[in-house]
Amino acid sequence: MAKTVYIHTFGCQMNVHDSEKMLGVLQQDRYSETDDPRKADLIIFNTCSIRQKAEQKFYTQLGRTKSLKKRKPEIKIAVAGCIAQQEGVNILKRAPHVDFVFGPQNIHFLHGLISEKAPKVAIEDNPEIAIRELPVKRDNEIKAWVTIMYGCNNFCSYCVVPYTRGRERSRPSENIYSEVKELAEKSYKEITLLGQNVNSYRSDTDFPGLLRMLNGVGGIERIRFVTSHPKDLSEDLMEVMSELPKVCEHIHLPLQSGSSKILKLMNRGYSYEDYLHKVLILRAKVSGISITSDIIAGFPGETGEDHMLTIKALKEIEFDGIFAFKFSPRPHTKAAEMEGQLSEDTKSERLTEILKVQEEITEKKNRLLEGTIQEILIEGHSKTDEERLTGRTRSNKIVDIPGIDPETSSGEKGALINVEITRGGHHSLEGKPVEQNY
Ligand code: SAH
Ligand code: SF4
Ligand code: F3S
Repeated sequence: MAKTVYIHTFGCQMNVHDSEKMLGVLQQDRYSETDDPRKADLIIFNTCSIRQKAEQKFYTQLGRTKSLKKRKPEIKIAVAGCIAQQEGVNILKRAPHVDFVFGPQNIHFLHGLISEKAPKVAIEDNPEIAIRELPVKRDNEIKAWVTIMYGCNNFCSYCVVPYTRGRERSRPSENIYSEVKELAEKSYKEITLLGQNVNSYRSDTDFPGLLRMLNGVGGIERIRFVTSHPKDLSEDLMEVMSELPKVCEHIHLPLQSGSSKILKLMNRGYSYEDYLHKVLILRAKVSGISITSDIIAGFPGETGEDHMLTIKALKEIEFDGIFAFKFSPRPHTKAAEMEGQLSEDTKSERLTEILKVQEEITEKKNRLLEGTIQEILIEGHSKTDEERLTGRTRSNKIVDIPGIDPETSSGEKGALINVEITRGGHHSLEGKPVEQNY
């Protein structure tokens, strides 16, 4: 009889895509997905360890499954992802109702794990990860994630990823090319290349070379990638971004701090001046590029002055948007042991100021788009309002198109249309189609 699986995914795009791979593997074992954990035969928590908050959220959810398991002992509970890798067997000790623990490099174990012959914990390093192809069951019909590399070698002093995802390994370009070609044949329009540090992709070609290859796949209209590391952002990549028509004008380029002293403590490998220099070149080369970033508030040793340098950087660079987080000490990382740990209050105050300064900038930038014409890839009708279509610009901004008659609109998913931006708010934009049949 067919069985059902419920997956709860925490964390980054990489994890979201890993969940699609888990569903792909399980589909081969005749599992189908359910959105009700009480009806599931298997519950998987695909976890994230990046900050303490993410970890706590998972443990709260896991706690809730204890009584479910009591009522329904045949239900299997698995913990996957970055906390699984970090904690391994400790999870079974802490939560004995968990049946299996497997890390991000061991998704292929799912076959064996549910057959009960396999070990309960699978977290070993898997050097074959980049060459072993897994089936994928994708959630979206027009946009697809494509992994190009696994792991990370950077060891930024605050970050768990090198410990949870292992060493950096690039997938062969021909495998990536075949996957993208297959996606085009299935009418996908947009791909997002995934890696912790895509700029250091290297197989038989480098990252700019890979983009050149993929730009040639007919049917794919847009190519995006995350995440770029400022130290590895080369002139060649900037050139390729300006040249290749399918590569979108957006880059997520985490700055982390505006203080070169703090960047050094973070082991980021660039100074604020290096970063600014690259941003200026990018903006000169790639017209209309939007630049988004990540900022950490209250890193150990960050003085009020360092914090003000971050505020100054935000004002000087004017990002299109940022994600900002309070520094969170993580297991194994150097920063967790550093002197000068700041109080929660100080971290919160600084975070609030960062978010406030950025909010005004984001709003101003979005307002400047009013009256411009932007190409939108239609993703469908808004979930809350049938009379709204929603899509994104090439620069990755969400645009809603209100006042659409769902009966007569030919605004099919996956269509590229030009819209005039009529309103720029701080979370999204509104627009109206320039062509008439919408
Ligand atoms: N590979 C990417 C992103 C990794 S995690 C990169 O190098 O940029 C996403 C973001 O989480 C990071 O950019 C950083 O801003 C934040 N982050 C990571 N570890 C953190 C920690 N210990 N405390 C607070 N924020 C953290
Ligand atoms: Fe973490 Fe740094 Fe690697 Fe990004 S580049 S995943 S922040 S260690
Ligand atoms: Fe992603 Fe969280 Fe792991 S951000 S790589 S799921 S620690």
